[in-house]
Amino acid sequence: MEGLVVDQRNWVCNTANAASLLWHLFHSLPAPSSSVNWSGFYVVDKAKPSQLVLGPFHGKVACQTIAVGKGVCGTVAEKAQTLLLEDVETFPGHIACDSDSKSEVVVPIMVDGKVVGVIDIDCAETSGFDEVDRTGLERLALLLAKSCDW
Ligand code: SME
Repeated sequence: MEGLVVDQRNWVCNTANAASLLWHLFHSLPAPSSSVNWSGFYVVDKAKPSQLVLGPFHGKVACQTIAVGKGVCGTVAEKAQTLLLEDVETFPGHIACDSDSKSEVVVPIMVDGKVVGVIDIDCAETSGFDEVDRTGLERLALLLAKSCDW
């Protein structure tokens, strides 16, 4: 990903490539990683900062907007902390854009102490993500935070 942001600060361009990279990276790994069924971004809506709006992604069509504080993505945006869900059914208020999704990891992207968006990855198997995924995605969030104009 470091190579993909060279000479480019446009957030749409860089998150579009990140969504593709994440999809193909997870699919190149053994199960459960190969069962990733959505990889993408929700970003704080500049026109209405109390909501997230869908950004670039790979996977099935998804909800256009998510209120900050709602669902997994909105909760991560509100609390500015990663959520790793072994089983999405255990999270009250989980928003099921795709009923195939069984586990999920959502990581905040922070600039100057404020959330500008989240990385969201879904898996069609329970326990699809572990601490290695969390660490890697948090590193990706740091890279995107500093290498894009949000
Ligand atoms: N499950 C998310 C909604 C986005 S989809 O997973 C792509 C949530 O509860 O915020």
